[in-house]
Amino acid sequence: MKILITGGLGFIGSHTIVELMQAGYEPIIIDDLSNSEPFMLDNIQKITGQKPKCYLYDACDKDRVRNVFAENTDIKAVIHFAAKKAVGESMKQPLAYYRTNLVSLLTVLDLMQEFKVGNIVFASSATVYGEPEKLPVTEEMPLQKSLSSYGSTKQMAEDILEKTTANHWLKAILLRFFNPVGAHHTALLGELPNGVPNNLMPYVTQTASGIRKELTINGNDYSTPDGTCVRDYIHVVDLAKAHVKAIDRLLKTAETPVCEVFNIGTGAGISVLEMVETFEKVNNIKIPYRVGPRRAGDAESIYASCEKANKILGWKAELSLADMVRDSWNWEKYLKDRKE
Ligand code: UFG
Repeated sequence: MKILITGGLGFIGSHTIVELMQAGYEPIIIDDLSNSEPFMLDNIQKITGQKPKCYLYDACDKDRVRNVFAENTDIKAVIHFAAKKAVGESMKQPLAYYRTNLVSLLTVLDLMQEFKVGNIVFASSATVYGEPEKLPVTEEMPLQKSLSSYGSTKQMAEDILEKTTANHWLKAILLRFFNPVGAHHTALLGELPNGVPNNLMPYVTQTASGIRKELTINGNDYSTPDGTCVRDYIHVVDLAKAHVKAIDRLLKTAETPVCEVFNIGTGAGISVLEMVETFEKVNNIKIPYRVGPRRAGDAESIYASCEKANKILGWKAELSLADMVRDSWNWEKYLKDRKE
């Protein structure tokens, strides 16, 4: 069964392609390489033994994306990842974020309607919850006004999908990702941050490899057990597997609701310090760090209730924090070896 994946060469997209192929699906990729490199496609082939069809197009380019639908008439579902994703950058370039993230979604939905493709899995984010009132967060909790334009594009996209599915030509599964980290166990796929990383894990791995001098921990005066912020880190391979379960549900389960939302995390709250210490212990390497001020807009603590995904999707995160830090580090070392 053919599945179209926008952003299929990105961090989460590339791992999802591998899992889909290993589950017997035939993925077709659209990616403009704005946050990836061509070698990711070669590496997908190294892992799976096959090279998926890949179109190096911008998902906002309606004429080109139409050609993809026209050439592949039996697409059964779309997984839509293609989007800009840096929270800080989204505050400096709000229009670019609204344009890319919303136009790409509308383009894909218009063409799905035109070509009668009735199933979509959408890459949403825990960012839609803002600073939650109760922990762990469940899918029913009210969303709060977003602090970043990135976050509001995810909220708006969820709203667009909810309203569109109400017309019954489309079914959607919205996956709210918590904090994806890790890399493929082969060290052939992982995250390729643009410039200086904003996220914790790539900053830690780049510090370990000497690209960055030291890590700054953004505040240790929060009301958490060790004073640093708490997040729900999830291994990217577990996250990729959740997409296969979502596609299975859309294509193989009769009578499901037209629009469903699932948290995709581990359910465990991990502090910044715990993450750094686990990285040091598992990989036997020191991370030089200092404590700096709080980062504007950071939620103090957020982690998921994943009961709904466990029960309805039959999915559960399986990989540990040790797996996440080990695989992230192996990927960073692979990138270093590639450059040398
Ligand atoms: N942190 C540091 N030092 C750094 C980088 C991060 O201390 O150099 C801290 C942050 O302040 C935060 C924690 O590590 O407390 C995690 O920060 P990340 O930037 O890795 O992740 P966020 O939780 O801020 O955001 C991530 C994604 C968003 C997504 C969000 C959902 O970047 O795209 O999770 O909760 F929307």
